[in-house]
Amino acid sequence: MKSRLSKGAVCASICLAACLAVMGCGTSSSASSAADASQAGQSSSTSDLSTNAQSDDAQVGSDDAKTQGIDYLALVNKNHPLPAGWEDSLKTVRMTNSVGDDVEVEKKSYDAYLKLKAALEKEGVYVDLDSARRSVEQQQKIMDDFTKKYGADYAKKTVATPGYSEHQTGLALDLYLIIDGKDVTKNEDMITYPEVWEKIHARLADYGFILRYLKGDEHITGYGYEPWHIRYVDDPAIAKEIADKGITFEEYKAGKVQPEVSYDFGKSDLYTTEELEEAAIQAKCEFATFEGCELHSLRYAGDKCNTKENLDWLNSLDEEANYTQVVELLTDFHSPVEGGGAWEADTEMKDYQWWLAREEGKGWQLVTFGY
Ligand code: DAL
Ligand code: ZN
Repeated sequence: MKSRLSKGAVCASICLAACLAVMGCGTSSSASSAADASQAGQSSSTSDLSTNAQSDDAQVGSDDAKTQGIDYLALVNKNHPLPAGWEDSLKTVRMTNSVGDDVEVEKKSYDAYLKLKAALEKEGVYVDLDSARRSVEQQQKIMDDFTKKYGADYAKKTVATPGYSEHQTGLALDLYLIIDGKDVTKNEDMITYPEVWEKIHARLADYGFILRYLKGDEHITGYGYEPWHIRYVDDPAIAKEIADKGITFEEYKAGKVQPEVSYDFGKSDLYTTEELEEAAIQAKCEFATFEGCELHSLRYAGDKCNTKENLDWLNSLDEEANYTQVVELLTDFHSPVEGGGAWEADTEMKDYQWWLAREEGKGWQLVTFGY
């Protein structure tokens, strides 16, 4: 299988997005992450953050963009880049943290963070903001610093490829701890306070935040456990649903595909059902963006998809990839009854293909999809 046949503009663009999304597949590691790259040379102090916040109207786009707002449930991960035009609608504020760093945050997220911080202080837990919104250049700098310090493999496992970092949304906040009046900013130190993180995590949903990179779910999120990385989703009810179910944001998004889907993962000598379900989560997260389409069935195409030819083809779509295993999933879905967009309206789309691949010991990457 060497080519995809697109069904028009929407399919062509999403296929392109998927092809572009093949950069930087990785999994767990928690000793250090992007947070500590920006912490070098920091000293300790404990000023009041909230007094330092300023509105940054320069960040606000056109009047149209202002009224449109941003999607607080946007998924940005290794398969989904920052949505196009995001920055046109983004409103941010800037604050100075206790170690004197300038931190930029999406406005509503920052308001919610201040409430979270105040509630935590009542419990004797003190936090500050290490890093929130990053430009693509800032993300690239972190990637470069990490690559220099720890090597490319480790950097790819802990730092998102520029363009694919949730930090670019302004909705992702990296916290650090203040313990006995001292700033604890390095990841390897922060991780030694599990009881403090537990108190923080228990409060997140009340203020519309979720913990983004859960322990043991690196094959789904693409990153190891990061107790400090929280994500604003705006609606406390949604945050609570995600926390109560103990699921990743990817699983939450995949679950938004209507529930009446028939699954058939068949028999495989290569993969467990759980591994195939993990591949399906990545495909369903993408399907959830097919506006108005209704998913009917999803099935594994069988171990015959794991050929050298398919591996070579998928590896050829990303010069940095070294995929060693392939999964092909097939779906039947119905195009929108009205409108249809790039699809032929009101049509059952049969055997639509989803190609996923993974590198040794890493999670599934949705490499391409289509006919
Ligand atoms: N450390 C997170 C994954 C990032 O770089 O966005
Ligand atoms: Zn982070």
